[in-house]
Amino acid sequence: MRMLIFIFLITLVSCQPKTSKVESSTVAPTEFRSDFVLSFGSCNNQLNPNPFWNQLKNQHPDVWIWGGDVIYSDTEDMQILKNNYAIQKQDTSYLNFVRTTTVMGTWDDHDYGVNDGGSEYGKKKESQQLFLDFLEVQPTDVRRKQEGLYYSQIFKIKEHAIKVLILDTRYFRSALTNDETGKKRYQPNAYGAGTFLGEAQWQWLQQELTHSTADYHVIMSSVQVLSSLHGFESWGNMPHELERLEQLIIDSQAKGVILLSGDRHISEISVKKIGLHQLPLPDFTSSGMTHSYTSFSGEENPYRVSKVIFEKSYGIIRFDFQKRKVRMEMWGEENKLLEKYDMSL
Ligand SMILES: [Fe+2]
Repeated sequence: MRMLIFIFLITLVSCQPKTSKVESSTVAPTEFRSDFVLSFGSCNNQLNPNPFWNQLKNQHPDVWIWGGDVIYSDTEDMQILKNNYAIQKQDTSYLNFVRTTTVMGTWDDHDYGVNDGGSEYGKKKESQQLFLDFLEVQPTDVRRKQEGLYYSQIFKIKEHAIKVLILDTRYFRSALTNDETGKKRYQPNAYGAGTFLGEAQWQWLQQELTHSTADYHVIMSSVQVLSSLHGFESWGNMPHELERLEQLIIDSQAKGVILLSGDRHISEISVKKIGLHQLPLPDFTSSGMTHSYTSFSGEENPYRVSKVIFEKSYGIIRFDFQKRKVRMEMWGEENKLLEKYDMSL
């Protein structure tokens, strides 16, 4: 009888489903075919430790995209700006990471040189060269002669392609409208007043998206595109410019458009359905890396489809060309996957 009970127990145990190792992440990672891995992040104070460079290196992304606030250096003194980039370049874990991948990026306000700054900033030409020096951009590169940091790069993966488009939302951006109620920082400009990108950059963006055969188009904007009710900087400051961007995305028929943003010191994913065919347009916001909005207590965003992460984090996007799926991930300290969101695009 004892033997029978023993055999019964052994059978019972062996029939249990195999349990996988408990991961340290707050979101259980699952297998995802990663034909291409894109990483990005923003808001990196050169005087504060950034805990992520080694972790990022171990994730072997194909590209790293700076989403702005590469350093904090609000100044018109170019020597101070230069010195602050030099401080960032002393971080050996940063250097070890960027040696292993392709680096792209844009600036936001604090590396541009002025908080919430736009076209009025008097040192933008000089600041642009220092930003390009930091990224080690060649003297022959188009950005060395052009006004603004906008450019694109195509990544070819067998028969597939991903086009990354970097926007400059500072160099040409005209004045914002202060909120008169005092409840928010800005209210939207009068419809039609002002520009986010400037006409030359708009023309470039139109050409880059129209007739592009890439499978995916990733567009980096430093400030948020879709979420705007918070009243800080966003494309919602100029509703006609946001409309123009959405219409351009629809008209161009560019496949798989994914917007990236930073600036907010929180991370979240927003999705807006645009046009007659209700095309899903995601805006993946990821910031900050050395400091975050730890006192965040909530804000309205009708497009939000993820948790809001208000601890330090960066973003990863994995692309599966076979299934035409992307996985967006928010990573925190100590290899913690804080949030993930899958989309068919
Ligand atoms: Fe920032």
